[in-house]
Amino acid sequence: MSDLPEGALRLGPLLRYVDHNSATIWVETAETATVRVEAGGTTATARTFGAHGHHYALVEVTGLPSGTPTPYRVFVDDEVVWPSGDPDLADFPPSVIPTLQPGKPLRLAFGSCRVSMPHDEETNARYGIDALRAYALHMAGLVGDQPDRWPDFVVFLGDQVYADDTSPRMKEYIASRRAPSEPPWDELKDYQEYAHLYRLAWSDPANRWLLSTLPSAMIFDDHDVRDDWNTSWTWRQEMEATDWWHERIVAGLGSYWVYQHIGNLSADDRAEDELWRRIADHGGDDELDVTDALDELADRADQEPTSYRWSFSRDFGEQARLIVVDSRAARVLEPDRRSMLDDEEMAWLDERMRGDVDHLLVGTSLPLLMAPGLHHLEAFGEALAQGAWGRLGSKLGEVMRQHADLEHWAAFQGGFVQVAQMVVDVASGRRGRAPRSITFMSGDVHHSYVAKAWPDPALATSFETVVVQATCSPIRNPLPQVMKAVFKLAAKGQARPTGRLLGGKVPRSPLRWRMQRGPWYDNNLAVLELQQDRLHFWWSGGQAQGDLDRPRLERVATVDVSLPPG
Ligand SMILES: [Fe+2]
Repeated sequence: MSDLPEGALRLGPLLRYVDHNSATIWVETAETATVRVEAGGTTATARTFGAHGHHYALVEVTGLPSGTPTPYRVFVDDEVVWPSGDPDLADFPPSVIPTLQPGKPLRLAFGSCRVSMPHDEETNARYGIDALRAYALHMAGLVGDQPDRWPDFVVFLGDQVYADDTSPRMKEYIASRRAPSEPPWDELKDYQEYAHLYRLAWSDPANRWLLSTLPSAMIFDDHDVRDDWNTSWTWRQEMEATDWWHERIVAGLGSYWVYQHIGNLSADDRAEDELWRRIADHGGDDELDVTDALDELADRADQEPTSYRWSFSRDFGEQARLIVVDSRAARVLEPDRRSMLDDEEMAWLDERMRGDVDHLLVGTSLPLLMAPGLHHLEAFGEALAQGAWGRLGSKLGEVMRQHADLEHWAAFQGGFVQVAQMVVDVASGRRGRAPRSITFMSGDVHHSYVAKAWPDPALATSFETVVVQATCSPIRNPLPQVMKAVFKLAAKGQARPTGRLLGGKVPRSPLRWRMQRGPWYDNNLAVLELQQDRLHFWWSGGQAQGDLDRPRLERVATVDVSLPPG
């Protein structure tokens, strides 16, 4: 396909972890090579590493001026590959590395669920306008008024790629190499197909430019691997009984490490990663091939979730801490001890759920606080499937769980209650100085909303900390019409203890909450700015207004949440 990047650069550059004076730039090259980045007066190089016949480099640029957007260029073996010279990118401003300025109020974008489909009229009629592309065109100043100040970074909260529900172009690629009539049919089979899927997702010119100039953090959700990934023990047994699942999960997690995960980390955190250390310590002119080690890491991470941590966190001075939690791969599924997070992952989160920062930001692909109706339904579904109402009920519960996607935090009551209790403890000042806000940022559910929480009155505790669930989904993959009515209904009322209703078979929640705004169903991307007196959120999406090539960015919702005096 001619609209995929050609030449020495197969994909990227992607601007990943950026702080006040350093940046990480990721690329996939066509051949083994040395990659050089020049930014201002600084130069950094990295040798590619290889996996499954593909070549990647992660270049760590240091010594950048803080709070400054520094233009940069990328060279592959001394040939300039970025700016690319691609006529489709000619209108976009030069890519920069926008370093953070310590103390400046953070502004971050977030969202989830984006199919990579064409942008023609017919496809837009089905999937709507790609909100990320509309945002990119706006950021680039190509559409509409003067762009707002850019976010400092974006957090992609899952379903960055769809490995199960594939696009026509992905299907074409699959058909060019194997029979789609054989399992896993037109779902992804192996690493090669994942490499192609990422290329399709991130090559569209506007998004490619955005990813080259807006630092990003990412965490997977189910579709990066498969719908309902790790919903239950039964789900896992069913998958493991097939002859294609093993290759799929190894390819899914291995490619995730390369394409998404490794760029999430700071240089210090990356240095703790054993596989990364092997790459970084590799001297000499040849390329290190990590295929076997990568497959091993992925296989082990799937079989023994405690062997690898996909969650990550970072501090922004005293202003904020961002914790991004893996709510898929670290699940405990044994029917008698289910939890969203295994003990080690929970301990890792517990260590980071502390005060002494002004704002605690928690990214989890699955909303911690769902619409009250859905929360109660999922809690009921779990209790039913666990046999609280006998064996027949248990079977029914499992069917409900798998077919109605009852697999969010509420469907893992053990873990939910633990995390909710951490929130109460942090907000009550029992874990360092209470922050002014605790915000859960999530996606997955194909609707967006804001909920506000307070402690269960039975706990006889109160706090000033603002506790918010802010959900942004989809970026591009709208919900079928019939489901919208269901979610609207579920959003009513407040989440209260379900104990009496369910005969004490669901634990009491330490938090209560109510929807403050929403749900709405637009394709959109959210932005949060940590202002002095409020959390200022807004959601925006694209409007075609006759010009499909240049959709305008329009606000879908604006929500201000007042903060206690700080
Ligand atoms: Fe999802």
